[in-house]
Amino acid sequence: MNASNLKTLPIELDAQRLPQHVAVIMDGNGRWASKRHMPRIAGHRQGAKILKDLVRCCKDWGIPALTAYAFSTENWRRPSEEVDFLMALFEKMLRHELKELDREGVRLSFIGDLNGLSPTLQQVMADAMEQTRENTAVHFSVAVNYGGRHELVEACRSVAGKVQRGELSLGEISEDDLEQQLYSGGTPCPDLLIRTSGEQRLSNFLLWQLAYAELYFTDAFWPDFDRAAFAEALVEFQARDRRFGGLKDKGIPAPAALLTA
Ligand code: IPE
Ligand code: IPE
Ligand code: MG
Repeated sequence: MNASNLKTLPIELDAQRLPQHVAVIMDGNGRWASKRHMPRIAGHRQGAKILKDLVRCCKDWGIPALTAYAFSTENWRRPSEEVDFLMALFEKMLRHELKELDREGVRLSFIGDLNGLSPTLQQVMADAMEQTRENTAVHFSVAVNYGGRHELVEACRSVAGKVQRGELSLGEISEDDLEQQLYSGGTPCPDLLIRTSGEQRLSNFLLWQLAYAELYFTDAFWPDFDRAAFAEALVEFQARDRRFGGLKDKGIPAPAALLTA
């Protein structure tokens, strides 16, 4: 792939068959840094730059939604210096980039148990979501203090509350009722999941939403995941045959329930 000319959609890709929502597990920042004899935080810093460009790339190439896994409910197990650095990085990036992202028409969402974050970070996130809510160029969601199991437990709790209050009967509970209670309620499910760094697992990411996503794993570390690497993932996505349980016939549309959350 010619990396010098990736401002527009690479010729190898069919604009009509791009994923409408890409999810990324940004993994390998620490190993990228270690390989260079640098502290792990240097990898996080470079990883943040790569993410910034990926959002713009989605806009340039016509991919309307991107969700990035930035911090899991399990990542609190890391040394406090690393956790503190990451929290400070989220805040700094947000303060620095918000104006430009807003100007470019990016709608920002944060998904996860945001109550577990510092009040200052919660406030900056809430302001950013409010400021960009009407934007339509790209919907960029960042998963922070996110855990798929926790999200599902919370969704069950909300649905159970409706039943308890008599707003919904037990027999009526549908997939749609549960989906509406997810952090991502109302956003179409990702059709492509990318995980970098050679690991091939979900690590508690979007357990419900990824039910029918195409999974793409690459050995590249996240701080090296540039536009050329993204294009390779998209080429592979377009070569896949998505059947949704049906038979091999690309003319058969996916069941609506699998395309909309
Ligand atoms: C991903 O990179 C970033 C976060 C989890 C915040 P890692 O920090 O997991 O990097 P590795 O996997 O240790 O190399
Ligand atoms: C997953 O990466 C979480 C994020 C990318 C934010 P991890 O590095 O935390 O996942 P494991 O521990 O390898 O499963
Ligand atoms: Mg990792």
